[in-house]
Amino acid sequence: MKNRLVVGNWKMNGSLELINTMLPEMTSQRAQCTAAVCVPSVYLARAAQVLADSELLVGAQDVSLAQRGAYTGEVSASMLSELDCRFAIVGHSERRTRHGETDEVIAEKALRCLEAGIRPIICVGESQQQRDIGRTAQVIGQQLDIVLDRLAAEAAISLERIVVAYEPVWAIGNGRAASVEQAQDAHAYLRQRLGAKAASLRDSVPILYGGSVTKANAADLFAAPDIDGGLVGGASLSVSEFLAILHAA
Ligand code: 13P
Repeated sequence: MKNRLVVGNWKMNGSLELINTMLPEMTSQRAQCTAAVCVPSVYLARAAQVLADSELLVGAQDVSLAQRGAYTGEVSASMLSELDCRFAIVGHSERRTRHGETDEVIAEKALRCLEAGIRPIICVGESQQQRDIGRTAQVIGQQLDIVLDRLAAEAAISLERIVVAYEPVWAIGNGRAASVEQAQDAHAYLRQRLGAKAASLRDSVPILYGGSVTKANAADLFAAPDIDGGLVGGASLSVSEFLAILHAA
């Protein structure tokens, strides 16, 4: 059986009160899969405290591409690791589109994570328009390759620790998840691209699906052969939904 990974992405939602009340409730049931929540960075220290003795891991939603210095407002990977962050999302479509992050920037961020012992969750995904003109494979393949090639250039880095998330932009935050077939096709393609770099990557890197995952569709999605878990936005802000998704995994 696959060891699945389910990661909640709170985005810019929640409050200190929710950290204090909701996170303990989320650990009330033992999950059979690996689970993490990526909370806003100001809450990471508190989340790490609240979850210190639990199996629910803490992750960040972004990281600076720089190691230190004059980068006002940024948070470095080594700072995140001090807070017990195990994961950091890099290249989310909201950061690509609203903050102009390029594949090269995302590759650098992924590298900073690995240097600091954090597993980067590298997001890729096509827009509706790109899908409509048949460019899905080309777009997500290129997004992945640029990051893989950058990481592979660093001899000291173990690429096996990365996580890939397929998040079709058209399925995010609108209740219109990809069909199991659409998601499986993209995941199989990404798996093949990983395998083209190294067989060990094909076998060890989890590929998560993200985009309107709910308790209603999670089990079907996670049953597909190349879907290793989920990156969950809105549904990770409800204890019962999130626990049901963990159960499905
Ligand atoms: P939703 O689950 O709200 O569609 O968000 C998906 C996502 O962007 C997770 O990173």
